Amino acid sequence: MEPHRVEEILFSKVQIRKRVDELVLQMAGDCRSENFVMIGILRGSFMFLADLVRDLYEHDIHPRIDFMTLESYGSGTESSGTVRITKDISVDVTGADVVLVDDILDTGRTLTYACEHIREKGARSVKTCVMLDKPSRRIVPFDADYLGFTVDDRFVIGYGLDYDSYYRELPYIAYITLLQKEDVP
Ligand code: IMP
Ligand code: MG
Repeated sequence: MEPHRVEEILFSKVQIRKRVDELVLQMAGDCRSENFVMIGILRGSFMFLADLVRDLYEHDIHPRIDFMTLESYGSGTESSGTVRITKDISVDVTGADVVLVDDILDTGRTLTYACEHIREKGARSVKTCVMLDKPSRRIVPFDADYLGFTVDDRFVIGYGLDYDSYYRELPYIAYITLLQKEDVP
């Protein structure tokens, strides 16, 4: 892993908690479907999805839950540009109202690909919910239906987001900076 420094906290545990509650209120108004499925995009969505569904439970909403793994990033911070499915969903989404959950909307390639895939499987509707949005990075036009926070074009970690598989467990979201050799003590 490149030398790097974890910078200031961007969104605290408390700020995230509050925002998740607000998103769930919004979602609870929309998601009264008898056939409601939530699909987390692994691995970044695991913490966000877990918080969302526990909160939805309090609103008496009981989705079927599944995950899919899509890969577009290597081990660093740059996208390779191609998206492929390495683990598909197992639930039958025929006629279902689906909400896809991801950590961050960046170039838009992952969610564009995932939405199309779930539609092809016969879902009745497909919506998206992301914790973070980096609109300045968009390559494929895409807007999420439910959005936590908008962020600048800097690499972020925590609350499911990783740098080389580290930092996903952080209960907050922070910036990280990659260090040049001359900055390393
Ligand atoms: P997209 O296909 O470019 O929109 O890629 C979104 C995916 O890229 C996310 O699910 C993340 O896994 C990853 N990603 C994009 N920006 C960041 C970041 O700042 N930190 C960590 N992962 C990121
Ligand atoms: Mg991801």
